[in-house]
Amino acid sequence: MSEKLNCSALGKRERYEELLPQLAALLAGETDPTANMANLSAALRESFGWLWVGFYFVRGEELVLGPFQGPIACARIPKGRGVCGAAWAEARTIVVPDVELFDGHIACSSLSRSEIVVPLSHEGEIWAVLDIDSDKVAAFDAVDAHFLELVAALLRPSFTPK
Ligand code: SME
Repeated sequence: MSEKLNCSALGKRERYEELLPQLAALLAGETDPTANMANLSAALRESFGWLWVGFYFVRGEELVLGPFQGPIACARIPKGRGVCGAAWAEARTIVVPDVELFDGHIACSSLSRSEIVVPLSHEGEIWAVLDIDSDKVAAFDAVDAHFLELVAALLRPSFTPK
C-alpha cells in the first residue's frame, strides 16, 4: 500500500479523477467496512481539507456514528432528522450549500457551513451514509455529488448484512 496520495490536479473534477483510482487501490483486497470507511475518511479529508468526513451506519430506525476524521460528532441521528437522516429517508444525495438555511440541520460542529450526504445502498437498501462538512459556504455542488457517489460505490463489496 502506498503511504501517500498523489494530488497534483488543481480543478475539483480533475482532483477527483486523479484520486478515484487511488482510493480503489487503497480498498483493494480489504472488505472489512470499518477498515475501508476509516481509510476513505482519512484519504478524503487529507485530499480536500474538509472539516469533517465520516460515516453513519443504519441501525434500526437510527443512524449510528461510524469511522470518521474530524471533530467529535453526534453519535445517533433518528431517521428523517438532520441532513443525514433526510438523505437516508429520501434515499438520495443531499447537497446543502448553507447549513443555516436547512431546516432541522444538526450542528455537530459550530464551524460547519455547508454539507453533503451520500447514501450507501445494497440491493436498494441503504445501510450507511457518507457525510462531509466544510467550514466554507457552498463548498459542494453537483460535481462533488457525482464523484462522491462513485466513492461510495467503492464500498459496495464491504457491505455485510447485520
Ligand atoms: N450535520 C449533520 C449531523 C452530522 S455531523 O455534521 C457530523 C446532519 O444535519 O445530519
